[in-house]
Amino acid sequence: MSKRFYITTAIDYVNGQPHLGHAYEKIIADVIARARRSLGQEVFFLTGLDEHGQKVQQAAQAEKKNPQEYCDGLAADWQAFAKKLELTNDDFVRTTDPRHKEFVQATLSKLNAAGHFYKATYTGFYSAKEETFLTEKDRLPDGKFDASYGEVAELKEDNYYFKLGAHQQWLIDYIETNPDFITPSYRRNEVLGFLKNNTLEDLCISRPVARLNWGIPIPFDPEFVTYVWFDALVNYASIAHAHAALGLWPADIHVIGKDILKFHAVYWPIMLKAMGLPLPKQILVHGWWQKDGAKISKSTGNIIDPIAVINEWGLDAFRFYVLRELDIGPDGNWTDAGFGSRYQAELANGLGNLVNRSLSMLKRYRNGIVPAKSDELAADAAKAADETRALFKQSQLQAALQSIWGLVNRANKFVDETAPFKLAKDPAQAQRLDEVLYNLAESCRVLAVLLNPFLPETSTKIYAQLGLTGSPDKLADATWGGLQAGQTIGEPAPLFPRKDV
Ligand code: ME8
Ligand code: MG
Repeated sequence: MSKRFYITTAIDYVNGQPHLGHAYEKIIADVIARARRSLGQEVFFLTGLDEHGQKVQQAAQAEKKNPQEYCDGLAADWQAFAKKLELTNDDFVRTTDPRHKEFVQATLSKLNAAGHFYKATYTGFYSAKEETFLTEKDRLPDGKFDASYGEVAELKEDNYYFKLGAHQQWLIDYIETNPDFITPSYRRNEVLGFLKNNTLEDLCISRPVARLNWGIPIPFDPEFVTYVWFDALVNYASIAHAHAALGLWPADIHVIGKDILKFHAVYWPIMLKAMGLPLPKQILVHGWWQKDGAKISKSTGNIIDPIAVINEWGLDAFRFYVLRELDIGPDGNWTDAGFGSRYQAELANGLGNLVNRSLSMLKRYRNGIVPAKSDELAADAAKAADETRALFKQSQLQAALQSIWGLVNRANKFVDETAPFKLAKDPAQAQRLDEVLYNLAESCRVLAVLLNPFLPETSTKIYAQLGLTGSPDKLADATWGGLQAGQTIGEPAPLFPRKDV
């Protein structure tokens, strides 16, 4: 039996409410998880929250709450958000979970005993917003630090350091011999460029309690807590360890955004090497969403509230838009007009119209009874199914949707070409009408199976409208001919109501 497919998302900071970027990443991972299950693999899908660090401590202080109470309140919102997106995650990690904290501490003790750490005095600058140390090199030409670092403070303090530098050449070699480790390839080149043109500095893995107490205590020195990134990255392994019987490690895919690439492609592999664990098979890096060409920002009010969009348009329309609009890699731009036009053209007039007219005609002309099998669209359906299978294995979600819409468009064109409403008026064309109606209904069934990872609600509705009792969640069922002659379909109903936009 092959190993369970283990996929993770970044764990989000709990210093605010979820936005489009968070939703996008979780939907990518959910669709890949569902696609793998549809391919017949066993899957473990992990998402969760990053609850420690200065950012969270400050956000809690601003609300006059103790950090744990603050996190507990927001964690409930984020967990409800995961439900709203219908994520099929198998676990939800919070870095304040005892199971995680214990594993982080055990890891620190082990690495310390093996001589990977040393203590030294640091003098320099610190960005609390990005939880990172800065040097003179990070200054802009005008002498200031980039606004993205927020307020930068000058510091002199003792800390523990992890000897990263020693592993630089090993990491370069690893990335070069494993071309799929960082995907897409331009992100891999970015990491290689960084590694080849810079000397890797050792990583500070502690923070003095005097400055930051909201963290996991360093087990061998109570004056310090663990640096939030050392804590956060370990979640992927601590939760694998919590389910040791499943043999999850190494992870198959870490889905992350481009801004946290260095942490995942440089620090994490070296941490794992020191821990004696194999590396994840792939780091899949997505781009960033903007709205109307500008950065999504709470302070300027330039935000998209995913919950409001879902409430207005439906979850499947939201899941569809973010994956169809933007390939995994480049940055994307949300416009309300773009959303509305994809909804109208591809969902309402494309898929929705196909299913509704196919099943309505079958109901009207044949009393809802499926005619004898006919194979005119079989090759088109097989092409979409074969391509989708191959694209699922490469996590090429946008391309899979394009291929599936090849079948949607072909079947809609078939309706126009064959004009079943005319055939229905001519008794001599009864057999031809049977053929047309079978091809359309069976195309709808195949589409339900192919679309299941993307549009789970719609896919289930199509199966129900076809009168099928099973679940459309196995790609093997996308084989042409599944619909049986003589079977009675269910009740047709619009999938995507037309909207005035
Ligand atoms: O970085 N578009 O948390 P986070 C697309 N806790 N993706 C976006 C985005 C946008 N506009 N804004 C954010 C952290 N993201 C750490 C991760 S993992 C061990 C620790 C993505 O809440 C971002 O790229 O700031 C990241 O992958 C995720 O949301 C969480 O961001
Ligand atoms: Mg961030």
